[in-house]
Amino acid sequence: MTDDGPARIEVRNLQKRFGTVEALSDVNLELRDNEILGLVGDNGAGKSTLIRTLVGLHQPDEGEILIDGKPVTIDGPKHARKLGIGTVYQDLALVDQLSVAENMFLGRNPVKKLGGILPVIDTERMQEEAERILSERLDIHLDPETPVEYLSGGERQAIAIGRALVSDPDIVFLDEPTSALSKAAVDHVERLVEELQNTGHTIVIIDHNLEEVLSMTDRIAVLFQGRVVDVVDSDEVTRDAIVAMMVSGQPMGATESVGESDSASSPTA
Ligand SMILES: Nc1ncnc2c1ncn2[C@@H]1O[C@H](COP(=O)(O)OP(=O)(O)OP(=O)(O)O)[C@@H](O)[C@H]1O
Ligand SMILES: [Mg+2]
Repeated sequence: MTDDGPARIEVRNLQKRFGTVEALSDVNLELRDNEILGLVGDNGAGKSTLIRTLVGLHQPDEGEILIDGKPVTIDGPKHARKLGIGTVYQDLALVDQLSVAENMFLGRNPVKKLGGILPVIDTERMQEEAERILSERLDIHLDPETPVEYLSGGERQAIAIGRALVSDPDIVFLDEPTSALSKAAVDHVERLVEELQNTGHTIVIIDHNLEEVLSMTDRIAVLFQGRVVDVVDSDEVTRDAIVAMMVSGQPMGATESVGESDSASSPTA
């Protein structure tokens, strides 16, 4: 991880409301080049909304998004992909009736010219690529022609991750990529994330399993009711301190510090 140069992504004073719900309020955050940033917070804290705003599924009500120091307006996921961002969505967004390969290439199928003129979907190439990405990157071996409705939760999650990698992004957002996975599959995802970092990628990962977050990430941003409570170095924080920030909405130090594991302070004190 390098601290030099502008952040890969920076958000300034980001605000997003849904009716009376303030899903994001005055969010300031930097994603540094080549880091793995964890995003944690209770249900409804605004984690997915932040990711969805960064890929243009939502437009912010206020605030700015900068990529490599330049202010941008992100129109939608296609635009985000053009900017080098790949995303695994929390709901996976797979189409049950379509095959593994079709889901991975949804909306961006490779095309070949029949007889040199008529453009048709290059099914063979799509299936080869899908199989290659799943086996090489995730060590998951699936028939690319299988409709995804027949697959297990873990296999579906692997396809959603594989799909995020199809466009060869250099920034990857993962919104709860391991929630339906077995221990062995979680290990694969952890290794994949590590490999992505080793090959120069920048990663944001949302995960409710704090042990996973602590072991995988360089820094952790804690969200509470749409606000960033604190951003801490992962090797300078304990699980208990993160939980304290998540439930109190107070930054580290305001609640309990590292090593003080038997603090009797209550969040309501
Ligand atoms: N499209 C929407 N319309 C209305 N309200 C929304 C919408 N998306 C999110 N919200 C609300 O915004 C708040 C933040 O939701 P968000 O999905 O970002 O939380 P989260 O931190 O990802 O939670 P979880 O851990 O449960 O996934 C919640 O109160 C949620 O109900
Ligand atoms: Mg979410």
